[in-house]
Amino acid sequence: MATPLTLVIFGASGDLTTRKLIPALYHLDQRGRLPAELLILGVSRTPYTDDGFRHHLADHLRDINGGEGFDPVCWNLFARRVHYLSADVTTPAGLQALTLWLTQHEQGGGRRLYYLAVAPELYAPISDRLGAAGLHLEEMGFRRLVIEKPFGRDRASAAALNAALHRYWREEQIYRIDHYLGKDTVQNILVFRFANTLFEPLWNYQYIDHVQITVAERGTVGRRGAYYDTAGVLRDMMQNHLLQILTMTTIEDPTRFTADNLRNEKMKVLQAIAPLQKPILGKAVVLGQYAGYRSEPGVRADSRTPTYAAVRLEIENRRWRGVPFYLRSGKGLKSRYSEVVIQFRCPSHLMFPLPAGEKLQCNRITLVIQPNEGIRLNFQTKVPDVDGVRLQPRDLAFDYRQAYADRVLPEAYERLLLDAIQGDPALFMRADEIERAWEIIDPIIAAAEDPAAPPPQEYAIGSQGPTAADALLEAEGRQWLPIP
Ligand code: BG6
Repeated sequence: MATPLTLVIFGASGDLTTRKLIPALYHLDQRGRLPAELLILGVSRTPYTDDGFRHHLADHLRDINGGEGFDPVCWNLFARRVHYLSADVTTPAGLQALTLWLTQHEQGGGRRLYYLAVAPELYAPISDRLGAAGLHLEEMGFRRLVIEKPFGRDRASAAALNAALHRYWREEQIYRIDHYLGKDTVQNILVFRFANTLFEPLWNYQYIDHVQITVAERGTVGRRGAYYDTAGVLRDMMQNHLLQILTMTTIEDPTRFTADNLRNEKMKVLQAIAPLQKPILGKAVVLGQYAGYRSEPGVRADSRTPTYAAVRLEIENRRWRGVPFYLRSGKGLKSRYSEVVIQFRCPSHLMFPLPAGEKLQCNRITLVIQPNEGIRLNFQTKVPDVDGVRLQPRDLAFDYRQAYADRVLPEAYERLLLDAIQGDPALFMRADEIERAWEIIDPIIAAAEDPAAPPPQEYAIGSQGPTAADALLEAEGRQWLPIP
């Protein structure tokens, strides 16, 4: 019989558990991807019985996608894995109840993952209590700690949190989530670059004019106003998701695909990102706030928190010297759309005459991360049946869902939960990576939070973002690709 395996979720009555973790685990189970022996133990202070907790989860799952994908038979099988313990593990009594539950169910030895789906201020206290009680010791099977973002709010707090975790936990036991890395399309950036011959030789400053990385959201802050207003887009998206996409787009190939090789290469890129020169705002960074943000529940009436940021970065290494990377992200934009655009340079000489005033649209590769996941290669073609040679750009397109009609594109959390269970940390962030990412973003946050700084520019909900973001590129003779 397999050694018992338990996923303990702290913060089990919270939003993340019901919206992301349980649906991901349920879908994995539906596809037969979960180890048969896996038990899921939800822990939080809310009093539930096992059955009460299962009903609460099922209710939420049924609400997702209007119940599509909810199968009562699968659910009943899945629900057998799910248990609940009402406990506050920051108290001795709560910790004792947890230890008792685990020893009773493991009968001598077992493997455990502890998932901290709790408020960030509880990461250190809970990991400490678990450590002090010896629940991190791996004598009887692995012990892993999975941690959500936000991981700190600047470099100093992230370093302090890392130090707190390392009091008991070895780095190899810690799995820090950036759910963007769990997206297949983000992982596919590496496959596209390194499992093909065609693109990599061109993937450098000699052929690439610039790169645009967009993570646009249509949604506004909704019920998360109180949290969001203390974070803003720089902490919520830029420090993590956008920088992670940037590293995947720009790293050298790790000779072997192992977690540390990959993370070493990512670290090199992060280290090579040039510090921004002052004044930062206006020159390398544009901030925006959607109209009506200050009336959202939980948001301060005079808030200057940016809900949109456009950032221009450069990577100082041989491959990327001089190539601008334009990153933008925001809420309340035209649509939910994420992409990486590789804009190639124009041919050094064009023998076809262009109509007066027309500029050639030069080659472009678009890696669409979501939705309509896929890849487009844009190139010039000859318009048929006209006099002379007339040029028109057209796309060669790869659509993920069409190409893999027999497979699902899993949710990011499905992949990350499986990797944590299987002990593959490649798609999780290492301590040094997170701290370096903060080091890059901290000066931007400091500039934004300077009381003398102008407030973020207002933009209309459903728009492309603040007009000042266009000026950032126009100053260099470039343009954002419109959010569709
Ligand atoms: C989270 C942010 O990390 O990512 C949210 O905290 C944001 O504010 C979300 O909405 C976006 O994720 P996705 O996968 O829906 O693009």
